[in-house]
Amino acid sequence: MSSAKRIDGKEASARLKVGVAAAVAELKQKHGIVPGLATVLVGEDPASQVYVSSKQKTATAAGMNSFQHDLPANTSEADLLALVAELNADPAVNGILVQLPVPKQIDPFKVITAISPGKDVDGLHPESVGRLVAGGGALVSCTPLGCLMLLKDTLGDLTGKRALIMGRSNLVGKPMAHLLLNENCTVTMAHSRTVDLPGVCREADIVVAAVGQAEMVRGDWIKPGATVLDVGIIRVPAPDGKTKLVGDVNFAEAEKVAGAITPVPGGVGPMTIACLMLNTLKACCAQHGITDVELPLTLPPKT
Ligand code: GUN
Repeated sequence: MSSAKRIDGKEASARLKVGVAAAVAELKQKHGIVPGLATVLVGEDPASQVYVSSKQKTATAAGMNSFQHDLPANTSEADLLALVAELNADPAVNGILVQLPVPKQIDPFKVITAISPGKDVDGLHPESVGRLVAGGGALVSCTPLGCLMLLKDTLGDLTGKRALIMGRSNLVGKPMAHLLLNENCTVTMAHSRTVDLPGVCREADIVVAAVGQAEMVRGDWIKPGATVLDVGIIRVPAPDGKTKLVGDVNFAEAEKVAGAITPVPGGVGPMTIACLMLNTLKACCAQHGITDVELPLTLPPKT
């Protein structure tokens, strides 16, 4: 028996990408400006290569310019910082994304803080984080932004909902908490030291799982009817001797109890890239002081 509605992130991200492409076309037509996204990959991690090339392709498909910088794994921190400075100064580049993780000889925090906050389409610069917490029009990290859009698209107003976020990363957990606080949720953050995680989870109307532990969240942790977003993406051995992707949530169990749930793959993942496009467009408009182009700040409705 399955009862949960499947939240189709592919379909939702397609709607957002159509909205972004329309706004990019309007920006070009009204102002002659084409947004540009620079992606930087240091080293040859195959998963990162796939992510970065997908980001480039999506940018091009949305009508934006895409600038890819591939650096060898032994690149020095100084050389990477020099590239970031160049991209900060380049008016054709509106958004800068340095794919994480970076090799050991490079301090990721130094790189993140070197990116001009106005071009910080990852929302990781301390100024972006501060603006998210204190208010003031920040660029917000793409995965939590995509999660928020899916939640509002599924549930409408989130006021008063009890939200549990599992995982306290800078990339997902912490910004997610502040986004949901801004939506008037009662937010709980759980992490590896949380006592009685299943019991805490059973109280949540909204669960965002972002811990990177394959199928950790069991069906009997879920409050009946809750909305479950699974940010995890972990490759595990499959019965046929190959491998498969699973999330942080045991999907087969949880979908029997939840009201709505994202699958892995095809849930949160596609929204992350679509939100990167939105952030690049937003950054471009802000850099040029443009306010007469309509941005798809929430998911466009299904047509
Ligand atoms: N690596 C995995 N996810 C991300 C992301 O959202 N941004 C960056 N820069 N690197 C990542």
